[in-house]
Amino acid sequence: MALRSLLLYLSRRKRLRRWMETSPVAEQLTTRFIAGLTLDDGLAVCARLEREGILVSMDRLGESVTSPAEAEASRESYLEILHRIAASGFDASISIKLTQFGLDLSETACRTNVELLVGEAARLGKTVEIDMESSEYTDRTLDIACAMHEAHGNVRAVVQAYLRRSGKDIERMCDLHVPVRLCKGAYKEPATVAFATKREVDASYVRLMQVLLERGSYPGLATHDQSIIEEAHRFARERAIPPDRYEFQMLYGIRRDLARRFVSEGYRIRLYVPFGEAWYPYFMRRLAERPANLLFLVRNMLKG
Ligand code: FDA
Repeated sequence: MALRSLLLYLSRRKRLRRWMETSPVAEQLTTRFIAGLTLDDGLAVCARLEREGILVSMDRLGESVTSPAEAEASRESYLEILHRIAASGFDASISIKLTQFGLDLSETACRTNVELLVGEAARLGKTVEIDMESSEYTDRTLDIACAMHEAHGNVRAVVQAYLRRSGKDIERMCDLHVPVRLCKGAYKEPATVAFATKREVDASYVRLMQVLLERGSYPGLATHDQSIIEEAHRFARERAIPPDRYEFQMLYGIRRDLARRFVSEGYRIRLYVPFGEAWYPYFMRRLAERPANLLFLVRNMLKG
């Protein structure tokens, strides 16, 4: 737990981030979890996964921009991703973070940026998945996701099972027919806001997953937790919920064996494929989820 907290603390250190992202060993560090530094790298991974029957959500890494110009640049770079995936014929969604679109600077400007992107995605027949960041953003993020979904019908919101409030949020998303990606939650949150133990978080995930499977609009069950995935299979079979009514989602580089098994068994599986130069906070959250990854990292660096 102390190591997880330390890694999450380090994930927010700006100077360490700058140093790591420009380090000559960056590529060695990142290859497992990140598809590459450029859009072409991301698209190449996307093409390979599509050939294997795996769906994709593309994430241009980055969060918390510090000027309106940077927020507009994020919007433009995501428009380029949309046009490239549409031109390639990929059945891919995009995943965005609202702080990348200026949520910390101006909610109005952020909405304008997101609206432009979501409108263009709708025109191209693509879905925009709005990642969930730390709990200070939950209300604003869900409000924007709901408004965009109402206007364009092509948005997926994210709900984190570790938040105590999430039962109510899931009810609201079901009532508004907003598709949800359900994940456990990756940020450091106080115990007043989030469940602290794995047992409580897992129990919350299962409860919310059951509501989504019964009442949700095409939910995305985002987890690598095998016992939860088995529970999803069991519950769906028991309630005769067909496998095309939901999808599983996983992160690029984690449990590839499970992803391939899903495809062979006829389930839908989407991988979240991050690429880009601003990889540090994402990468540190992956280490915090499983500190054993530090060993993998050290082995990789020694090999180089
Ligand atoms: P858990 O952490 O209990 O892990 C279960 C098993 O999965 C582990 O025993 C291990 O085998 C494997 N595993 C999990 N993480 C691993 C890692 N980093 N390295 C190696 N093995 C690992 N969070 C958030 O706050 N906002 C968001 O928008 C999203 N979006 C999102 C999209 C998708 C597609 C996924 C899969 C996840 C997210 N997350 C997220 C992250 C999520 O909240 C959570 O931190 C991770 O998925 C890890 O939790 P698990 O459900 O996998 O369970």
